[in-house]
Amino acid sequence: MDRFSVSKLTSPLSGEVEISGAKNAVLAVMAATLLSDGVSEITNVPHLKDMKTMSDVLRVIGCHVDGESHTLRIDTRGVNHLEAPYELVKTMRASFYVLGPLVARFGRCRVSLPGGCAWGPRPVDLHLKGLEALGATITVTHGYVEASCDTRLKGGVFHFPVSSVGATVNVLMAATLAEGSSVLHNAAIEPEIDALVDYLTDMGAKIQGRGTRTLTIEGVPELKPGKGETIPDRIEAGSFLAGAAITRGKVKVTRVNPEHIGAVLDFFHDIGCEVTTGSDWAEVDARGRELHSTSVTTLPFPGFPTDLQAPAMAVLTTVPGISIIQDTVYHDRFTHIAELKRLGADIHLKGDTAHIHGGKPLSGAEVMASDLRASLALVIAGFVAEGETIIDRIYHLDRGYENFEQKMAQLGANVIRLQG
Ligand code: EPZ
Repeated sequence: MDRFSVSKLTSPLSGEVEISGAKNAVLAVMAATLLSDGVSEITNVPHLKDMKTMSDVLRVIGCHVDGESHTLRIDTRGVNHLEAPYELVKTMRASFYVLGPLVARFGRCRVSLPGGCAWGPRPVDLHLKGLEALGATITVTHGYVEASCDTRLKGGVFHFPVSSVGATVNVLMAATLAEGSSVLHNAAIEPEIDALVDYLTDMGAKIQGRGTRTLTIEGVPELKPGKGETIPDRIEAGSFLAGAAITRGKVKVTRVNPEHIGAVLDFFHDIGCEVTTGSDWAEVDARGRELHSTSVTTLPFPGFPTDLQAPAMAVLTTVPGISIIQDTVYHDRFTHIAELKRLGADIHLKGDTAHIHGGKPLSGAEVMASDLRASLALVIAGFVAEGETIIDRIYHLDRGYENFEQKMAQLGANVIRLQG
């Protein structure tokens, strides 16, 4: 397994980096192409392992997936195997997104339950209940979900008891082909949902309520292949800005939508960074600034994203005083605390709330990435830890950060990949 070697930076991160397309938007849209019969196109797709995994899932189902540079073309005319196998779904939870489209278009399918992940549990009960509200018959046996319906799904009403990105994705896609209208209450409003609504609309879906928690969908008999550009990755953008804050540098992220990272920019401003934005860029300047502690609570969009909880924690380990981070989305998404403590951080976890006694010097060590975003937190912590830090299992990071070493090099950081 590849590892990273990073050393304490001799100068803060500084410069500009262009943000890639949002993997979590692409994953939903790739599944949505199954709703049509033909060749759909997605542009601004990042070269990431998750895209390959989803492509492999679609290929198992019978699609032809190809593309060059940052464009994907998905031909669904060969779909002949209505099943997504465990060996693929267990590697990437979003593979579960094929459930809604397959049952909506073909009337039946068999999809493996996702496995666990670094933190958990991560249930899919709302995906299943939402599809049942559209008339699907769901059985779960031998680790697989079997979904079926007579001829067509029927429009229905479903209220999500908690805001769930994945469940909204699955049920929304299924509703586009259901007979009659559907209303989804308390739907997720993350930018990736808006991006999916836009792509489905391009395919001919009839969806009202974009950007609100109530989506009304008028089912149609069929959808045509879609075409669309992927939105920027708001989590990647926040990650590089966290690098500016922790190293007391100045970083500008371009090709972003500042409205997608409002709560994140507020965080950097709250701790004392200078934050500036333009129509498609954002900049954090922490040069020469005395940052101060703060409290952060993760929430569904537009609140502070759980995906940036670990990078924010890394930043706060360098800020004098006691900071508090509560993760209300995933109460146990804290496996990075033990690794940050190996670097000398002083963090105490009580339930879903971490107390960070910041400002203590960090020293390099061997640490292990536990998930995609924790791996980023360990890298940026390594930039300010005395000596060398080795981060193991960085395959997690390769799932979500395109050209990571090159982008960090543009900002003045030498991230060395140790093969093997
Ligand atoms: C999506 O996961 C993202 N993944 C996650 O990013 C992100 O952390 C998460 O949303 C929250 O923003 C993708 O988009 C591929 P949820 P998802 O359903 O859809 C509960 C990354 O690294 N819940 O919004 O699985 C759940 O337990 C990943 O890119 C149910 O109870 O998250 C959680 O508390 C990590 N029942 C809350 O909802 C369900 O059926 C939010 O989960 C589904 C979810």
